[in-house]
Amino acid sequence: MSVPLTANHKSLQCHRFDGVLDWAQMLSGAGLIAFMWMHMTLVASVVISPGIMNAIAEFFEATGMAQVGGPLVFLLFLAHFALAARKIPFRLEAQKTIWEHAKLLHHTDTWLWVVQVVTAMIILVMGAIHMWVVLSDLPITALKSAERIRSGAWIFFYLLLLPLVELHVGIGLYRIAVKWGLAGRSERKGLKRGENLLTLIFITIGVLTLIRFWFLKG
Ligand code: HEM
Repeated sequence: MSVPLTANHKSLQCHRFDGVLDWAQMLSGAGLIAFMWMHMTLVASVVISPGIMNAIAEFFEATGMAQVGGPLVFLLFLAHFALAARKIPFRLEAQKTIWEHAKLLHHTDTWLWVVQVVTAMIILVMGAIHMWVVLSDLPITALKSAERIRSGAWIFFYLLLLPLVELHVGIGLYRIAVKWGLAGRSERKGLKRGENLLTLIFITIGVLTLIRFWFLKG
């Protein structure tokens, strides 16, 4: 015999579903963080030698990982945005309220959340353009990447995307650790310092990579 759902049951189900979506958001974010660390390291191999970057790219294409994995990363990227968008204030009124609260509270974590939302919007557009351009022009080679980076305004595109992504990844990692209880209140300062250091290291690696591409000629 089925029992009719009361308002309380429905609200409980809603909460549970929201919890599941929260987990999915965190897991998709964690997956993208792992991807970005791998991506930055693999692309940076050009600094050691363009031959190594070419060999890695060849391996990814020969195994189909670029052709299949690339679009999958793109889907994960879109899914992560759709899941996180539940919490993003798209209406002007809500945005004003959050802005006022952030100013009033002087609370670093609230500001970090504002940075997270603003960087997300820009990364959504720039990341999609970047993946489209790279994946629709396979195979990846160090020389092709270098020529792209030297052409038009691409260098400025990457010089903007790089810090935005690294900020978003660093803050995301910190928020995951706090939200899921991996770091208590007393450990937050140290965690933030570690996260800032990591962000700085990846931005430095990225800038060195771009410089290497800039001077790479065939
Ligand atoms: C499967 C997906 C992806 C592939 C195959 C890929 C591949 C590449 C390649 C080959 C480069 C060298 C530059 C070029 O050729 O234009 C590059 C650079 C870069 N990519 Fe990606 N990428 C992917 C996804 C992403 C995502 C999701 C982001 C962040 C939203 C991202 C951010 C960057 C940044 C910031 C650079 C500059 C690198 C640096 O400064 O070291 N990429 N990527």
